Amino acid sequence: MADQADKLRKMVDEKKKTKCRAIALTSGKGGVGKTNIVANMAYLLSTIGKKVVVFDADLGLANVDILMGLRTKYSLLDVIKNGKKMNDIVVKVNDNFKIIPAGSGIEEIANITEPVFTKIKDELSEVIKDADILLIDTGAGISRKVTYFLKSTEEIIVVATPEPTSIADAYAMIKIMSINYNKENIKIFINMAKNEAEAKTIADNLNKICKKFLNKEFKSIGYALNDKNLPNAVKQQKLIAQSNPNSNFSISMKKTINNLFKENIKVYENPIAKFFASIFGG
Ligand SMILES: Nc1ncnc2c1ncn2[C@@H]1O[C@H](COP(=O)(O)OP(=O)(O)OP(=O)(O)O)[C@@H](O)[C@H]1O
Ligand SMILES: [Mg+2]
Repeated sequence: MADQADKLRKMVDEKKKTKCRAIALTSGKGGVGKTNIVANMAYLLSTIGKKVVVFDADLGLANVDILMGLRTKYSLLDVIKNGKKMNDIVVKVNDNFKIIPAGSGIEEIANITEPVFTKIKDELSEVIKDADILLIDTGAGISRKVTYFLKSTEEIIVVATPEPTSIADAYAMIKIMSINYNKENIKIFINMAKNEAEAKTIADNLNKICKKFLNKEFKSIGYALNDKNLPNAVKQQKLIAQSNPNSNFSISMKKTINNLFKENIKVYENPIAKFFASIFGG
């Protein structure tokens, strides 16, 4: 009897473990919008009742918390060096939205060896036990600290902007993920496009390169236009999806969520905005 109960408990635990969908955002080139995409998508998902955890895996220049104007007492460094549990450093944004802040300069302060990564991963699985979605914001580029987190995540979104350097670096990232780490579930997001046509062309071109050299194509899951409201929101340390829900960037985030998670978030917040958007093509 005790044996059966034990088995049942294990089965329930296993189910709990596989419940959370983990997605890592990365890019070749830095400054392409990953952190803004992660933070705003997480916030919007939380508003429709999804339990979201954002893991700031940028161990060099962590900034999810700064972007949102949050005061954080502890960071991942306290887990690595000071024996804190990851559950103790979690910052609760709202009932559905938690952040694990990285703290800047960790890689310079702490020696991040394989066992440290394993500890981080184990602790993280505790935090996400009851979550629906884990969004991992990685740093840019192909350093070990970035690839470690990407290696252990099935679903990866590569963010690129229309700049040729960004596209070339995005391709380099896709190549490594696909060839070296056998990742199949890679998706493309184009940010800071001039218009929809440019975003589509950039995604198509990136895919043409992938088709030619890797014989693989990847799904484009969304795009965002260059939105002058976003740098303003960043300066004010406000999430644009919250402070300006009808801005281009916020609308793009909602459309991307609907596409990626098969959700049905209302894209425009009120009929007047929708009316103007239908006239001006927003
Ligand atoms: N669609 C957009 N329109 C206008 N500005 C944008 C857009 N997306 C991002 N930005 C601006 O680009 C800057 C960099 O964004 P962000 O920090 O999110 O990039 P990142 O990819 O996380 O950078 P890093 O590689 O350094 O972590 C921010 O100041 C932000 O305001
Ligand atoms: Mg970032």
